[in-house]
This record gives sequence, C-alpha cells and structure tokens, in this order.
Amino acid sequence: MHDWRRTVDGLREQGLRELSAISDPQALERWRVGYLGRRGALTDALRGLSRLPAEERPAAGQAANDAKRALEAALAEREGALREQALSRDLEEERLDVTMPGRPPARGGLHPTTLILRQITAFFGGLGYQVVEGPEVELEKYNFEMLNIPRDHPARDMFDTMYVRPPEVVLRTHTSPMQARVMEARSEEARAQHLPAPPVRVVVPGRCYRYEAQDATHEWMFYQVEGLAVDVGLTMADLKGTLAAFARHMFGSDVKTRFRCDYFPFVEPGVDFSISTPSVRGGAWLEILGAGMVHPRVLRMAGYDPDAYNGFAFGMGPERIAMLKYGISDIRGFYSNDLRFLEQFAS
Ligand code: DAH
Repeated sequence: MHDWRRTVDGLREQGLRELSAISDPQALERWRVGYLGRRGALTDALRGLSRLPAEERPAAGQAANDAKRALEAALAEREGALREQALSRDLEEERLDVTMPGRPPARGGLHPTTLILRQITAFFGGLGYQVVEGPEVELEKYNFEMLNIPRDHPARDMFDTMYVRPPEVVLRTHTSPMQARVMEARSEEARAQHLPAPPVRVVVPGRCYRYEAQDATHEWMFYQVEGLAVDVGLTMADLKGTLAAFARHMFGSDVKTRFRCDYFPFVEPGVDFSISTPSVRGGAWLEILGAGMVHPRVLRMAGYDPDAYNGFAFGMGPERIAMLKYGISDIRGFYSNDLRFLEQFAS
C-alpha cells in the first residue's frame, strides 16, 4: 500500500511540476498523453489498483482519483492560461498606434522641361500669344518645303532627319513647320469668308527629333518652342523688344541681350539671340535662340501677301534654357528618368 501510495503521490507531484514549466500547446498535449492518456502513467497506476488487497482499495482508489482530478484540473487551468497568453500575444502584434504620424506618400513633381515650358508660355500668353501644338510626325512639305528649304538644298544638312516614310513623312526636326501650318489654315479660312488674312501671334511648344549622336549638349529627342507673329508693319525692333522682355522674364531684369547675324532659310534677315547676365556662367554671352523676319517666300507659300504683311519668328530649346538657368551641364539628364536628377526640380 505504501509503495503504491508513494507512486501515486510522486506522479502527482512530478506531473504538476512538469506542467507548470510547459508553455506551448504541443508540449501540453504530450504531457496529457503521458499522464492521463490511455497508456499514461497515472492511468497505469489506477489499473494497478486491482492487484491491491481488497481492504486497501477504497483508500487507494480515493487517493488515485484525487491525484487524477488534481492533474486534470491543473491541465485545464494551464490550457486556459496558455490560450490567454497566445491571445494577448496576437493582440500585441496587431496593436495599432493611431497617434503615430503617417508615412507621407511620395509626391510627384513637374519635369524641368515642363517647368520651363510653363514659364515660356505664361510669358507669351501675357503678350496675347496663343499656345498651339502640332504633329510630331510631320510631312516633309511642312518640315522643309514650306519653310523655304527645297529638296537638295544644302540647308537640309542642318537637320539630321529621321524619316517615318521617306521621302514625304518625317519626325519633325523643329517646331517651325507649325509656322506654315498656322498661316496656311488662317489664310484659307479667311479667304473662304472673303476676309483679309488675320494677324497671327502663336507659340508652339513640342517635341522634335533628330538623327543625332548623343552627348552633353545633344539629344535625339528634345523640345522646342516656336514663336510666330504676323501682322502689318512689324519690324525687327518689335522682334528685339519682344525677345528682350522674354529674356528679362526668364533670367532677371539685369540681363543684357544681343542680336548677331545668322542664317535660317525661313527668315531674312536671320539672327541668333544671346543673353548675358552675371548670375549665368559669369556673364558670358550665351546664345539662347534663333530668330528673324519671316521670309517673304514663306509668307507667300502659306497664303499671306508679303507686300501687305510681314512677321517675325523665333525658335528656342527649353532644355538649353533650363540648363543655363539651373546650371545643368548635361542634357542627357532630362530624359533618362533618373530620379536623382529629376527630384532636384520637384517643387
Ligand atoms: N527651327 C530652327 C532650328 O531648329 C530654329 C529657328 C531659327 C526657328 C530661327 C525660327 C527662327 O523660327 O526664326 O534650328
């Protein structure tokens, strides 16, 4: 009896001790099988009851049942405690601090070309110029012919042209073809209504393409902004005053400006227009655009009588203006989509 008793008490004690150290459900199940399962240690001991003398059985049975109940109760309690622990661990993991500042979403910014285009069009818009756009896939007729650049004319060498369908469809090499398109459309419309051709003031921003080896100052795709004014009695003084005001708008009021003779087939005379201001390249003279008085043949081909009308035109590269204004040394930064470059201009 005593031995048996000791076995049951020992199992009970050992079981409770082991149980208190258990912290995961698998170990808990192993413990249950080990003590209370069909082949468990305590179940075994209970089975041994039958070998005891009859008079000892009731007390031994009592002790064994007490031990069993104690272990079962301890098991239930431990299970509950572990479940509780797991739950609070889950809650802890899901805990949300609603007072934490949010992660700001990445904000986009305007491309430097867009920034400059907006400054340019805003300025000319203020002078009453319309902003119009034209096709990037252009007819050779408008890209060259109507601009007084006949086929086989050496001036075509100025433009390394990409042909979409040779010889008549090209990627426009400049925005100047819109001079011809706008004048042609306006003069035809006026003629249909038996009206004199109207004056024109337009600026034309847009992409241009050239078959060009890329380097720090050349891209095969770039933007231009064309300007065209046609009216009665325009002079080069109007052109110069307009461009000087434009230069002040873009580079500040102390900018100096200069015309020098240059050649473009669609203007006569033609000039290059340069600026000088202390804050840009130490005041060096820098060419920013080409310009001139619209060639009489260009006026005539587009339906404007050169004896009654004249005009001026100019064409500039916004990337070049951005490069001068922001101190950018390599044009390839504009369209290679490197955020380290682009983010410097995000406003
Ligand atoms: N289209 C010329 C070019 O791409 C730029 C230009 C020069 C435009 C003189 C003009 C102009 O309107 O008058 O090189």
